[in-house]
Amino acid sequence: MFERMPEVPPDAIYSLTTACNADPNPRKLNLGVGVFKDQAGNVPILDTVKNVERAIWEQEATKNYLPIDGLAAFGLHIRRMILGAGSPLAAAEASVTVQTPGGTGALRLACELIARHAPEASLWISRPTWANHAQIGRLAGVKIQSYPYYDADRHELDADAFLDALRRIPAGDALLLHGCCHNPTGVDLTLAQWEQVKAIALERQLLLLVDLAYQGFGRGLDEDAAGVRLLARSGAPLLICSSYSKNFGLYNERVGALTCLGLPPDAARRVADSLKVMARTLWSTPPGHGSQIVERVLGDPQTRAQWTAELAGMRDRINDMRSLLAETMQERGAPEDFAFIARQRGLFSLTGIPAAVNEIMRRDHSVYFMSTGRINVAGLTPDGVDYFCRAYLAALA
Ligand code: LMR
Repeated sequence: MFERMPEVPPDAIYSLTTACNADPNPRKLNLGVGVFKDQAGNVPILDTVKNVERAIWEQEATKNYLPIDGLAAFGLHIRRMILGAGSPLAAAEASVTVQTPGGTGALRLACELIARHAPEASLWISRPTWANHAQIGRLAGVKIQSYPYYDADRHELDADAFLDALRRIPAGDALLLHGCCHNPTGVDLTLAQWEQVKAIALERQLLLLVDLAYQGFGRGLDEDAAGVRLLARSGAPLLICSSYSKNFGLYNERVGALTCLGLPPDAARRVADSLKVMARTLWSTPPGHGSQIVERVLGDPQTRAQWTAELAGMRDRINDMRSLLAETMQERGAPEDFAFIARQRGLFSLTGIPAAVNEIMRRDHSVYFMSTGRINVAGLTPDGVDYFCRAYLAALA
C-alpha cells in the first residue's frame, strides 16, 4: 500500500501559510488562509470570548464527553441566530442539529448523508468555490459537478449563466450555495436572485445545502442570513452547514453545526439517528470548549450585545481595507480598475492578478496569496495595503 501511494499536491491554502512562516523577510504578508487579522496584523481572541472563557474555567466541573450530537442549547442558539430569534423553524421539533468540528465537519457529514442515502445524486458546487468543497464531497463518495457563478471580467455574478445552469441540474441532485461572503469571489446573491434560486430548486426538486461560514462578516447577522432564511421558509428540505470559526474567532476550537430543516414529520428522528451514527464513526463526539463559548455568548443578552459589537468592528475593518485597497490602487495608477473590491463582501476577493505576477510578488516581496488571485482582505492593514500595492506595481514593471 505505501509503495503504491500516489503523489498528492499540498493543500492550496495551508501550504501558503507554511511557505510564509518559513520566509525570513520581516515585511512578509500572508493573504492566503481566511482568518481575520486586527489592525496590528494579529489573529485576535475577542474580548467577549476571553471573558466567557474565564467564566468557563471557573465554573466548569468536568471534561466528560458531550452527547454525539453536541450541546442541545448550542443547537438552539445557533438555529435562532441563523433563522431569526422568533422563527418557529428554530424550535427543536422543527429541525435536527448536529454539532460538528467546524464547518468542514458539517459539510463532510452532509456529504456522508448524501453518499449513503442518495448515492445517485451529484453535488453541484459553484465555479469557483472554496478549494476544499470538491474534495470533501469526493472523499465522502459524492459525485461532484459545478455550475458557473462568477464573471471574471466584470467581477460580478454571471447571473444568466448561473440561473441557466441551475435550471439544467437533474431533479434530485444536491445544490451547494454560499450563504454569504462567497469564498473566493466576495460576490453574493441579491434577495431577488435567492428567490429565483428557490423557485428553480423547488421546481427541480433539488436538495439545498447552504455553507454559512461567515455570518456577520458581510452586512450584518440578519442581512447575511436573509438568503438562507428565505430558503428555510419555503419548507423544502434544507441542510445548513454553519461555522463559528470566523464570527467568533474560534478557529482552532473547531465549532460548527449541521442543521437539517424541512424534513417530513416522521423523518426527523431517523435523520438524527443516521447522522449520529455517521458522526460517531467520524469523530465520535464533538469538542466542547468552543461550543460552550458560543452557547454562553448567544444565551446571555448582554454578552451577546458585546459580541455583536465586536463582530461589527471586525466587519467594519474588513470593509475599510476593501475601500483603502481600491483607492490606493487607483491613486498609485494601477493599470486595472480595482473598484470592485470595495463593492464585494467578506474575507475574500478574486483580484484578477495573474499567477505570473503573483509569483513575482511572492519571490521579490514575500507577498503570499493564492495563485488563483484570491486575497484575504482581512489580512491587510493600512501599512499592508501600501506594501501590497507597491509590490503589485513593481511586479508589473
Ligand atoms: C479559507 O478559505 O482560507 C478558509 O476557509 C480557511 C480554510 O480552512 O481553508
